[in-house]
This record gives sequence, structure tokens and C-alpha cells, in this order.
Amino acid sequence: MKTTISVIKADIGSVAGHGLAHPALLKKCEEMLGTAKEEGLLEDFYVTNCGDDTELIMTHRQGEENEEIHQLAFNSFMEATKIARELKLYGAGQDLLSDTFSGNIKGMGPGCAEMEFKERPSDPVVVFCMDKTEPGAFNMPLFKMFADPFNTAGLVIDPSLHNGYTFEIFDVLESKKVELSCPAEMYDALALLGSIGRYVIKRVTRNDDGEIAAAVSTDRLNLMAGKYIGKDDPVAIVRSQSGFPAAGEVVEPFTFPHLVGGWMRGSHNGPIMPVGQNQAYPVRFDGPPRVMALGFQIADCKLVGPNDMFDDPAFDLTREESSRIASYMRRHGPFEPHRLPADEMEYTSLPGVMEKLETRFKDMD
Ligand code: 13P
Ligand code: 13P
Ligand code: MG
Ligand code: MG
Repeated sequence: MKTTISVIKADIGSVAGHGLAHPALLKKCEEMLGTAKEEGLLEDFYVTNCGDDTELIMTHRQGEENEEIHQLAFNSFMEATKIARELKLYGAGQDLLSDTFSGNIKGMGPGCAEMEFKERPSDPVVVFCMDKTEPGAFNMPLFKMFADPFNTAGLVIDPSLHNGYTFEIFDVLESKKVELSCPAEMYDALALLGSIGRYVIKRVTRNDDGEIAAAVSTDRLNLMAGKYIGKDDPVAIVRSQSGFPAAGEVVEPFTFPHLVGGWMRGSHNGPIMPVGQNQAYPVRFDGPPRVMALGFQIADCKLVGPNDMFDDPAFDLTREESSRIASYMRRHGPFEPHRLPADEMEYTSLPGVMEKLETRFKDMD
């Protein structure tokens, strides 16, 4: 019998501004998922938030892209949105592009990462949640986990990792995908993955047997909506140990606060800061972008945990470095590379300003 983990998230409202999801929203989602567990649709669940994003972490036996599971997530977000509206929370229902469910939550605004697998004797899994950024923010850390021998010692010294991993990469602008096997096609993979606004890792599988190793939510809210609503703050599920990177190798890439898009109005680059749950509250200039890591053991489809993995003094230096880089980037004000490059600004509120200037432009002699 196989186990499925589905992590489905949406920003449905927050305090103050795009800060923190209100506890009443999490409570409503817990109630809804609790009922589904009693009725046997879910085996287990954990509801959390990273900044203003509410995350539903669910285990079940229904497989990926299951209509009932997606409907449950959608209904939970809809019911919680009613509370968000009563409390006049900021961005109540922000990520819900439609109020009627149509079979699959994909394309409706919420982000979704799912994987189905046969449980090993012991199955450690890490769920990552990000706020104030976009799915491409996972490209560098996932590449490091599964393809960089300077990060993951197991790629060199453990025969069960030695044949590498394959990255399924989505071109989110052209709606195409490609699979590249590392280490053989590492340079091809990097040629794409460096463009974090366009090419994003969707899945990682083990070369030896095709076993699923990681899954990411790649949903691009603003591309779907055709205008700026909020950022597509992503989630990822990563399996670890015994044929996968060790838990410590899975979190190690986040010791580097790399620059990602999505800070302030979804329009600025900033350093991602690994934080424990109690610091997943982006305040400064609505940021800097945050990432949380929740470690679980999966036991007969139940979630044992979580452990708040970035709530660790070993990440203090990274947080300090991230704060320094945040200050450095902020000093650029409206200039690139703090502000996103022009092509990415198409999906923000800037085109409205440019429209006004259109008639003022004259041909050059
Ligand atoms: P233990 O000996 O504590 O199980 O750790 C093994 C390991 O691989 C840690 O990276
Ligand atoms: P969220 O995408 O987290 O809602 O943030 C949007 C924003 O504009 C922050 O400045
Ligand atoms: Mg928001
Ligand atoms: Mg958010």
C-alpha cells in the first residue's frame, strides 16, 4: 500500500498587511481536515503557516491529483476565507482565483506539491515552506541537495546515491517540461536552473530506480491570473536518508542566503532567510523572504513530528548574513538588481505606470 503526501497552500488573509496568517484561519482548516480524517479520507494532517501563507500538510491513500483531496483543501481555504473577510484580514482570499472548484486545485491559485511512495522501514521527510518568493527559489537548494557533491557527501561516498538524480524542469512561461539527469547532464541542467523566474524544478527522482525524491509547487499565480495578485510562495517535499540525502544534507543548502525574487510587492530580489516557525513573519520591507523546514517521520501514513529544523543556532550566522545582505540590497531602492529586471516586472503593478508614459514617448531622430 502506498502513502501520499499532499502539501497544498494558499494565502487567504493576514495581519498586518502581508504579515502573518491569523490563527483563526489555521483553526478552521484544522477543523475541516479533522473531519476528513474522522471520515477516513485523510490518514493524518498538520496545518501551519509561513508568513501570510496557510499550509495544509496531508497524508492519505488516495494518490496524487486526487479530486476529493484537492476539493477538501479548496473547501478549507474557502471556509477560512469567510473568517478572513469577517476579520477584514489583509488579502482575504488573496490566492483563490475562483470560488467554484473544478476537479483539480491546479490553476485555481493555491500551490500544490504532492508525492506518492511505498514507505521504507523508516521514512524521514522534510517539508519546506517559503514566503515572499517564487518556486524558482528552490532551484539552487534542490540542485545542491541532489547534484552537488560539495553539499551532499553521500553522492560521493554512498553507493545508493552515487548514480545521481534526474530533475524534471518546467518552463513556466512556455508550459513545457524537460528531464535532465545529473551528473551526466549537470551543465545543461544548470543552464536552465539559473533562470529562476522561468525554469523551475518540479520533481527529482533517483536514477537507480526512478524513485521519487522531491516535489515542488510550481504554480505561478500571477501568470494564471494575468495580473499581479501576490507572489507564488512555494512549498516543497523532500525525502531523506537511505538512498536519499541525509536530513543534514537536505537542510545544508539553506546556510547560503541566496538571492530570490518576490520581496516587497513581489517586485524585489532579496536574500532568503532560514527561520524557525516563530520567526516566519516577514516584517522588514515585507521581508526578507523566509523559508521554514519541518521534519517528519512517516509511519503507516501518519505524520510523526514535526521538528522545526531551522530553529537551530547553527543557522544564526546565515540569518545574520541574510540581514546584512538585506540592508545592502535595500540601499539600491528602485534600482536593479534589487528591483526585479524589466521582463519580470510585467507580472507586477508596474505596467500600469508605464501605460501612462506610453503617449509621451517620441521616436529618436
Ligand atoms: P547516525 O550514526 O547518528 O545514525 O548518523 C548517520 C548519518 O549518516 C548521519 O549523517
Ligand atoms: P504575498 O505574496 O506573501 O502575499 O506578499 C505580497 C506582497 O506584495 C508583499 O509586499
Ligand atoms: Mg499576502
Ligand atoms: Mg505570502
